[in-house]
Amino acid sequence: MCGIVGYIGKRQASPLLLDGLRRLEYRGYDSAGIALLTDGKINVFRKAGRIENLRKAVSEANPLGDIGISHTRWATHGAPTDENAHPHLDQSGKLSLVHNGVIENYQSLKDALKAAGHVFHSETDTEVLAHLAGTIYDESDVSDPKQRLVASVQKALARVKGTFGVAVMHADVPGVIVGARLGSPLVVGLGKDEQFLASDVAAIVAHTRDVIYLNDYDLVTLTRNSYEVSSLDTTRTANVQVSRVDFTEEDSEKGAFEHFMLKEIYEQPQSIRNALRGRLNRDEATAILGGLNMSSMELRQIDRIIFSGCGTAYHAAMVGEYLIEALARIPTEIEFASEFRYRNVPTTKSTLQFVVSQSGETIDTLAALREAKRKGLRCLGIVNNVASTIARESDGGVYIHAGPEIGVAATKTFTSQVAIMTLLSLLFGRMHHLSSTDGLELIDELEAIPEKIEAILKQAPLIKEIAQKYAHAEGMLFMGRQINFPVAMEGALKMKEISYIYASGHPSAELKHGIIALVKPDLPSVFIAPDDAVFDKNVSNIEEVRARKGPVIAVTTEGCHELERITDDVIYIPRCKSILSPLLTVVPLQLLSYYVALARGCDVDKPRNLAKSVTVE
Ligand code: F6R
Repeated sequence: MCGIVGYIGKRQASPLLLDGLRRLEYRGYDSAGIALLTDGKINVFRKAGRIENLRKAVSEANPLGDIGISHTRWATHGAPTDENAHPHLDQSGKLSLVHNGVIENYQSLKDALKAAGHVFHSETDTEVLAHLAGTIYDESDVSDPKQRLVASVQKALARVKGTFGVAVMHADVPGVIVGARLGSPLVVGLGKDEQFLASDVAAIVAHTRDVIYLNDYDLVTLTRNSYEVSSLDTTRTANVQVSRVDFTEEDSEKGAFEHFMLKEIYEQPQSIRNALRGRLNRDEATAILGGLNMSSMELRQIDRIIFSGCGTAYHAAMVGEYLIEALARIPTEIEFASEFRYRNVPTTKSTLQFVVSQSGETIDTLAALREAKRKGLRCLGIVNNVASTIARESDGGVYIHAGPEIGVAATKTFTSQVAIMTLLSLLFGRMHHLSSTDGLELIDELEAIPEKIEAILKQAPLIKEIAQKYAHAEGMLFMGRQINFPVAMEGALKMKEISYIYASGHPSAELKHGIIALVKPDLPSVFIAPDDAVFDKNVSNIEEVRARKGPVIAVTTEGCHELERITDDVIYIPRCKSILSPLLTVVPLQLLSYYVALARGCDVDKPRNLAKSVTVE
């Protein structure tokens, strides 16, 4: 949430900063700004709305400067206006600061600064931090300007309660950017005679692939030719490691697709292959997941599994619960990450916790991980972003290898997470009750999934037609049973977040316990009803909706024509093992929401009020 880009080097900073912000726009897009240090003076440009507005303002002024910091915002404190956009200045106008995160004690700090005569121009918590750091700088007796700036940032952050990723520069300290993090990611990019600072490597990968992922409490001092990492916490020493980014600039481009979301939907055959690659052992009919960092003996002793995550990751975890219970017979529980730490979930000595997160930075999921570890549980991550905080803090885990997901609505990471859950179930299953014949059958079926998704993608024109028919519905219900109940939840989430149609997902049988009261001719119901053990039950529920004149769209299995008679529209998926069907049934729902959003003129990749990577509670 919110994106920071900083640059110091030999090139003009503003085009690099604007390009970096464009690549981070998925993190927040309600306002943006940049500050450049030119001839000992800080020039600030801030604009509400998309980065394009900022680009126009900057290009009209054509400011020069080879050092700058910038920000794209997802508002927490204060509406998305020009005044509330970052960077913010201190009272002297010489210190400029951008910030991700939330300063919880900002009001008391602000009151104290106001009492001392400070005047504020925004409603943000960030401006308070800028004033605080600036005032500490002004009152400091440290003579070296660089040391003085570092010490001021350090002291200001020590007085802050909350989370932050910050970048700071000062007009009297040319050639220096100071960054620090606690709870919001920051990465340093190392170039030749130039350095970058960003919330995500996507912003800088076009310029360098050598990076340092900062840890919580790290403070970095950048000059054009040097970097120095120290710790805000005197009891720790900073652990600095230079890593090489394994994806390229093109991986985070749209290519020929109109939207990232569509590109990512179409990437699913490949992203699932990537999730499975090297992880299937046909000889033993099991999965190989070395990153779990656990011996076979330790894995065999696991008697309880807890999954937690948020949003789409939570829905993938729900599918995981069905899979583990069915294939491995291990009691499994799922919990919203945001609730996990406020519950006191009873655990056994051999409970294993998984946190599921695309970004690996979601603050609630990170908090669940830390809570589990505090209680002595072994906690593993199922994560996409290999450099993320969750990946680093967990005891091990499985990377989903889906590649960068830029569209705010998660798509390919859902199916990759489910693919990993299937591998876990296979691994645990083979340690308990699952026969090698059943294991091998699962492997065969899993390997066939990418091709089956390709077949579904070919039906995009039909799904688009259906979407146009229902694009102006005032609401939508999504219904599924068993392992497709989580898919109903996921389908409803996709519909809500990108088309703004109110939608909800339910177990089909719950219909008659209240939801049916909503059914009427202009409220379509989407039934996920593949040809499985509960197909007939779904048919009865569809009939109940039909009897009340509710339109029905069904997702079912090829060759299962019965639904054509009792529904308005049918989308077919290829036949597969029932337990793997979520990997297929979700794809038409992703396309349906995409085309509904398109027909309604919504901004698919940047839905209102949302941002990817939710680093505030
Ligand atoms: C929905 C969506 C969100 C995320 C959720 C968790 O399309 O993208 O619901 O799934 O914010 O994010 P991660 O997986 O990054 O922890």
